[in-house]
This record gives sequence, C-alpha cells and structure tokens, in this order.
Amino acid sequence: MTSKLKPETLAKADEIIALYPERRSATLPLLHLAQEDHGWICHEIIEWVAEKVGTTPMEVLGVATFYPMFHRQPIGKRHIRVCRTLSCALRGAYHTMEALEKEFGIQRGETAADGSVSLEFVECIASCGTGPVVHVDHELHEEITPERVKELADNIRATLSDPEYGKKEFVPGTAAWKG
Ligand code: FES
Repeated sequence: MTSKLKPETLAKADEIIALYPERRSATLPLLHLAQEDHGWICHEIIEWVAEKVGTTPMEVLGVATFYPMFHRQPIGKRHIRVCRTLSCALRGAYHTMEALEKEFGIQRGETAADGSVSLEFVECIASCGTGPVVHVDHELHEEITPERVKELADNIRATLSDPEYGKKEFVPGTAAWKG
C-alpha cells in the first residue's frame, strides 16, 4: 500500500493488472501510472509496484533506472526537454538550450529552486524535420529557435497559474494552451 497515490490511481492500477495474464507484465504501465500521479518514482512507489505485480523492489528498481523517462528525483511542475539528436542539433538545438537556460536561470539537468521547471536534453522525439523541437510535459513545440524561446518561456510561465493547464486537448505541433 502507498499513501503517495490518489485513490483513483490505485483503482486504475488494479484495472491495468487485470489486463495481463502475468502480473509482472504490468510493471512498466504501473510505473508510468504512478509517475503521472506523483511526478517521480520514490522508493515507496518502487515497493508498492513490487507488491502489486508480485516481484521484488530490486527488480522494479532495475526497470525504473533502466528507462530514462522515469524520474528518480522530484522534477519541476513543467518538464522542458530539448531534442539534441543530429537533425535538431544541426538546426540549432544547443543554442535553443542555451537560451532556455538563460530564460529560467538554470542549467540543463537542473530544476529551478522554486520547483517551477526542469530542463534537460533528450534524444530524438520523432519530429526531425521541424527542429529544434522542445517537449513541455506532453506537448510538442516545433522550430523553437533561440528567437522563439522568450515566447515559449512566457507561455510556460503562464501555465503555472492556469488551472486549466493539462485539461486541454493536445494537438500535435501546436501550442495547445493557446487553442
Ligand atoms: S532529431 Fe530531433 S526530433 Fe529527431
């Protein structure tokens, strides 16, 4: 049992486990579900997943540390990821990152002291023709040149006090919070 997750998340976990003939196969989906709710994978969640799928915390920890999409430390309210793979790098992703670092006053790999944003590089996110691309949580932003970073940063800051953020429909390639 864990006190870290909402009752609806716990109920959803049972639904997910029921989809698999082997409970252990639900390890990855449960980690995703827990991270969606709690924001990161703490030790209590590792133990909870292990108990739910009938394995050891060590095995779940192995899965959680193998995949880079799982966070082992708290991250900011907005998670900003800049693609640095070849196409985006050639189109200026490193300059985009530098501009974002300047805007938020943090370095890549860091979280702002007030917990507002985290900034990191990631590998290809499958929008190679429209780089440099930036993911903000689940939203894709294309052609984010250094000149467009200020606009993006202002939009990100605006979402921090927007109660509707995250409830709007995601439209690939658009700034959904403006829609
Ligand atoms: S190289 Fe950046 S999205 Fe593929």
